[in-house]
Amino acid sequence: MSYSSTLLAGQKALVTGGSSGIGAGIALHLAACGAAVVVNYLSDADAAHQIVAQIEAAHGEAFAIQANVGREEEVQAMFGQMCDRFGTIDILVNNSGIQKDAAFVEMSLDDWNKVIETNLTGQFLCAREAAKEFLRRGVQPDISSAAGKIICMSSVHQVIPWAGHVNYAASKGGVDLLMRTIAQELAPHKIRINSIAPGAIATPINQSAWDSPAAAAKLLQLIPAKRIGNVDDIGRAAVWLASDDSDYVTGTTLFVDGGMTLYPAFAENG
Ligand code: BGC
Repeated sequence: MSYSSTLLAGQKALVTGGSSGIGAGIALHLAACGAAVVVNYLSDADAAHQIVAQIEAAHGEAFAIQANVGREEEVQAMFGQMCDRFGTIDILVNNSGIQKDAAFVEMSLDDWNKVIETNLTGQFLCAREAAKEFLRRGVQPDISSAAGKIICMSSVHQVIPWAGHVNYAASKGGVDLLMRTIAQELAPHKIRINSIAPGAIATPINQSAWDSPAAAAKLLQLIPAKRIGNVDDIGRAAVWLASDDSDYVTGTTLFVDGGMTLYPAFAENG
């Protein structure tokens, strides 16, 4: 990592879904820059404690909290626990996300609801609790020039329609206007809200798309940069959006996708 280990010193971060994949990568990057990190997880306590242990081994500060981000009482309890232990929150990474794929006419209401609940309602509930604390506390100039920062994990599928994944694509399209609307509403209070839209990042959520040579070759046809992304690509972007280096950036989506949104099929067609 090339940035300073004190870039986020004194800041308290919450990463939802921080026990695996992109969330775990972001938790490690924020901690490496000096933030104290809450690693939220839904079910895999061992994985969350491993991330905490990794942060502590590098002399960082972290602890894990179990909560379902789609449940209001659990989210409120999580913020309560975080504020009891760390005093406040400066950075929320709204990362928890799931896929439950099915052809449109076969998609059950339950699979629709589950994905919307985690990917969209979860971001609403966590952002609302974070914003309340940012407004209560205000700017602490020795910590950050913002009263708080929220990073919403979106996807290239906030703009790319995705057959067989209507619940997921709809949730990410929703995240875009959730993010931009609250960015507009809270900017006067010095609260910055942005999204990261990853492309194909090798994590458990999309393992079948990259874990065989045939699948990887097919996936690479969609990526002009000709490599599958890794969690560090997203971790570095998250650090920038969390830090005062991006102080004038709010309401925007940073696509970290190796060019996936550049309509690669048109490179030699059309
Ligand atoms: C999805 C992955 C997919 C990627 C690119 C992500 O948002 O979670 O499964 O590989 O988009 O299509």
